[in-house]
Amino acid sequence: MTARLIDGKALAARLRNELTSRVAQLTSQGRGPGLAVVLVGDDPASAVYVRNKIKACEDCGIRSVFEKLPADVGETQLLDVIDRLNADPTLHGILVQLPLPRHLNAQRVLESISFDKDVDGLHATNAGLTLMGVPHFRSCTPYGVMKMLESTGIELAGKHAVVIGRSNMVGKPMAMLLLAANATVTICHSATRDLPSITRQADILVAAVGRRAIVTADMVKPGAVVIDVGTNKTPEGKLAGDVDFNAVKEVAGWISPVPGGVGPMTIAMLLTNTVESAERAAALA
Ligand code: GUN
Repeated sequence: MTARLIDGKALAARLRNELTSRVAQLTSQGRGPGLAVVLVGDDPASAVYVRNKIKACEDCGIRSVFEKLPADVGETQLLDVIDRLNADPTLHGILVQLPLPRHLNAQRVLESISFDKDVDGLHATNAGLTLMGVPHFRSCTPYGVMKMLESTGIELAGKHAVVIGRSNMVGKPMAMLLLAANATVTICHSATRDLPSITRQADILVAAVGRRAIVTADMVKPGAVVIDVGTNKTPEGKLAGDVDFNAVKEVAGWISPVPGGVGPMTIAMLLTNTVESAERAAALA
C-alpha cells in the first residue's frame, strides 16, 4: 500500500471525546443538549442507522428522544409531531431519518423542521446558507469529509476537487464546502461524459455515487486524496464503498476506507451540530 489511510473511525472517536466535555459543560449549566430522532416505518437499514445515532448520543451524554411512527402515518400527523419537537426548548436538534415512505413529501417534511434545529443541514435555508458561504448547519457527511481532509494537513486552496454525485445531502453541499475552502470544484454525475478523464485531473476525489467499486485505479491521479462516501452492499451483505480500495490504494496518496471512513464521521458531525446548536441556545438564554 502506498496511500496513507484516513482513519475516519479514529478521527470520529477523537471528535466525540472532545464533544463529551462540551456536553458536560452545558449539562452542568442545566442546558444539556437534546436531539430528537424521527423514524417512519420499518426499513431495516434506517433502523440500524437510527440506533447507531441514538447510541452515539448516549455515549457522549446528549439526551435523545426517539419518535417512531408507523409506515402509513399521515403527513399531517408527522408534521404535528415535528411542530411539537420544534416548540420544545430542551431539544436542540431534530432529525427525520430518510428515506421516507413514498406517500410523504420529504421536501415538505424537511422544511417543517425549524432551520435552527436542522442538525442534518437539509433544510432549504441551511442548504442556501452553505451555498452562500455562511453555513449555519452543514450537511453532516460533507462536513465530516472536510474534517477528514483537514486531518491530512493538505492545503485545499487552488487544488482541483472532483465530486462524483450531485445529491442534496452529499454531492451539492460537498462541492460548496470545497469551494468555500478555495478549491477549484468539478461536479460529475450520471450524465457526465468520459468520467475517468475528469477524475484523473483530481487532486481531491470524493466519490458519492452509490455504486460499488466504480472508482478504479486508472481513474485516479497518482498521489491524489480519495474519499469514499459509498455505502453499498456486497452480495455477501458486507458494507463496501464506491472505490476499488485495494487497487486505488496503490495509486492514491491518501485514501479513506469503507467501513471505518466517512460513516463514523457522519455521526460525529451530527453530534457536533447538536452540541453547536445547544451552545448557541445557551448563549442566547
Ligand atoms: N439517511 C441516510 N443518511 C442519512 C442522514 O445523514 N440523515 C438523514 N436524516 N437520513 C439519512
